[in-house]
Amino acid sequence: MYKFSVQYCVLTLILLTGWFPSCNKPVGTDREQDLADESNTSDWLAYGRTHSERRFSPLTDIDTSNVSRLQVDWFLDLPRDHALVSTPLVIDGILYFTGTGNVVRAVDATNSKALWTYDPEIAKEIGNHRKVGWSHSRGLSYYRGKIFLATWDGRLQALDAGSGKLIWSTRTFDLNKPWFITGAPKAFKGKVVIGNGGTEQGPSRGYVTAYDAETGQQAWRFYMVPGNPADGFENEAMRMAAGTWTGEWWKHGGGGNAWHGFTYDPELDLLYIGTGNGSPWNRKIRSPGGGDNLFLSSILALDPDTGEYRWHYQTTPGESWDYNSNMDIVLADLMLEGIKTKVILHAPKNGFFYVINRETGKLISAKPFVETSWASEIDLSTGRPVEIAAARYVQGPGYVTPGPHGAHSWHAMSFNPITGLAYIPSIHDGNVYSDQGIDLASWQAVDFKGGIGVGLTTPEKLPRDYPASLQAWDPVTQKLAWSVPQQELWNAGTLTTAGKLVFQGRADGKFLAYHASTGEILWTFDAGLGISAPPITYKLKGRQYLALLVGWGGAFAGVGNKALGWEYGKHMRRLIVFSLEGKKALPPLPPPYFPVPLDAPDFEVNDSLAKAGQSLYGKCSGCHGPGLLAAGMAPDLKASAIALNLDLFRLVVQKGERLNMGMPAYPDLTDEQLLSLMHWIRKKGNEILYPKEL
Ligand code: HEC
Repeated sequence: MYKFSVQYCVLTLILLTGWFPSCNKPVGTDREQDLADESNTSDWLAYGRTHSERRFSPLTDIDTSNVSRLQVDWFLDLPRDHALVSTPLVIDGILYFTGTGNVVRAVDATNSKALWTYDPEIAKEIGNHRKVGWSHSRGLSYYRGKIFLATWDGRLQALDAGSGKLIWSTRTFDLNKPWFITGAPKAFKGKVVIGNGGTEQGPSRGYVTAYDAETGQQAWRFYMVPGNPADGFENEAMRMAAGTWTGEWWKHGGGGNAWHGFTYDPELDLLYIGTGNGSPWNRKIRSPGGGDNLFLSSILALDPDTGEYRWHYQTTPGESWDYNSNMDIVLADLMLEGIKTKVILHAPKNGFFYVINRETGKLISAKPFVETSWASEIDLSTGRPVEIAAARYVQGPGYVTPGPHGAHSWHAMSFNPITGLAYIPSIHDGNVYSDQGIDLASWQAVDFKGGIGVGLTTPEKLPRDYPASLQAWDPVTQKLAWSVPQQELWNAGTLTTAGKLVFQGRADGKFLAYHASTGEILWTFDAGLGISAPPITYKLKGRQYLALLVGWGGAFAGVGNKALGWEYGKHMRRLIVFSLEGKKALPPLPPPYFPVPLDAPDFEVNDSLAKAGQSLYGKCSGCHGPGLLAAGMAPDLKASAIALNLDLFRLVVQKGERLNMGMPAYPDLTDEQLLSLMHWIRKKGNEILYPKEL
């Protein structure tokens, strides 16, 4: 195939001319500049398409006049996958994507033909230690013939893009730490960078590490927050940051985990890292005397060669609400007061849209894109938020918008330089935060048991009567251009094109095309299952394709969409590729499925066991659904025969028999605890009048 013809062509040319050509950009050659080339339309080389992370394609074959004719061109069923959240890559006609269990597949980008599959076998590596995180990943990275993959259990791996063979593998954190990786690595300039998540799983001190792309050797590491001053500081930036902390923060780790939001700026040769929230969330615990707590909730600019600090901008000083700044960092050139200015566009969880000068790190403008009841505005003279007094829940519980879901999470924002608009999957949410019942002085998280150090309750009233919207935001005027309300909370990332289109998949399984200037809905496709991944586009053999992974997933996917009737394993996960020339139809959609408890007349519920099980179930609800209503990301336990048989339940829940499929292992649960979970599942399951109650 490619490899063969490339070798042949190279060999012939070397023999004939003695010159080593680049032979039509085959896999394996140097494509450094291409990663920044906005005009390339045949590939999708990086997470956000190019280094700019704009997710803007100059393709115009599909436009506002013909998008209504889009059809399925080809699709690939993925029966063993579930939560699919990743952005595929397309390189030289090959489409690469990562799915459940961090398995990587390479397929022909024009027809689904499988080329290779690589399985990092996460279950073997994590043993019984993993009870945190997820088996899904947001994407891969490509650099000089290698595909980079980061695994649930913290390995960074380089694969040969042509064959899928493992070239090197390195561990990015100690397996005894309660961390995990869901982010796409970032490859650039001979290096590949990765961080991790896990701020809430124990005392956590976040960092990013850069590795040599060729060898996997560590090049540098940068911590997001300072450690114990008695151990000495790693660099001057840590010394400076330590001045913004009080108390014995290092006992709590501090946080800042960089689990998403890595952008390389080839024009300024800077690496930007979006940093995480506090560990724990409550500043009164981690830094009791106050302080900004650098570099939490910031954009950090680092020297890509050495990892040295260059500048930072902190979006939420003294973070106390899970307002991390891990969201996409998008590079743009904006005309501001007649001057072309190199900026960063950033819409973090705290609900303000930031335009930052990327040469200096200085804030240019910031305006709320949702209701922001924690701060009234960002003062441009200081670059700091003007906080509302009650926001810090000092005098009792405080209702604050946005909530921990954020105003915008990792679902990709795109930017279209033609319309000048950014397209944000926005969330309209709030939460009540409280110290009640927490001993601030003695509170301490424990590895793997974790905690956030604050009580959360769902408020009676949310900011709007719909939980989410797609918003088009003008970063120059800092004003909303248009918005389309959405009825489900957790919608996927966006793509925008020169055909004046915006594409977005929704939590309810619809995939839509919008007019990029007006928000008019021009096309709707029913994928039959919640969508969590952003679409990509590319043009091969004269045809513009649009590719999308369909498979409900992500951190809050267990919570949403209970009422839509998607059952784990029943509603097919797929890679669907569309084109104007497509002629395929998907097999008919299975009807909505509302599982009912299995018949088990001999199972007598013991109420006190069930009560104990109810509190333990908090470990499970993120995937199996709160209140035992699963949303399709994991099996519905009331309809599971395994949940009726202690031996089988022990195998799956305690021994980790299904680790490879993304079911964690809980080796420290006793038989008594397992039984109590089974009793609660039975009791609660019998109470649910499904689906009438919904
Ligand atoms: C990170 C997500 C996640 C969490 C957290 C989680 N599970 Fe699961 N669980 C899964 C997935 C995914 C599967 C399906 C695995 C497969 O396909 O075999 C599963 C399968 C199961 C099954 C087998 C169901 C069947 O009939 O096949 C049981 C039982 C189960 N989980 C119980 C639990 C319990 C109890 C907890 C909490 C202590 C828990 N799970 C926490 C994701 C999760």
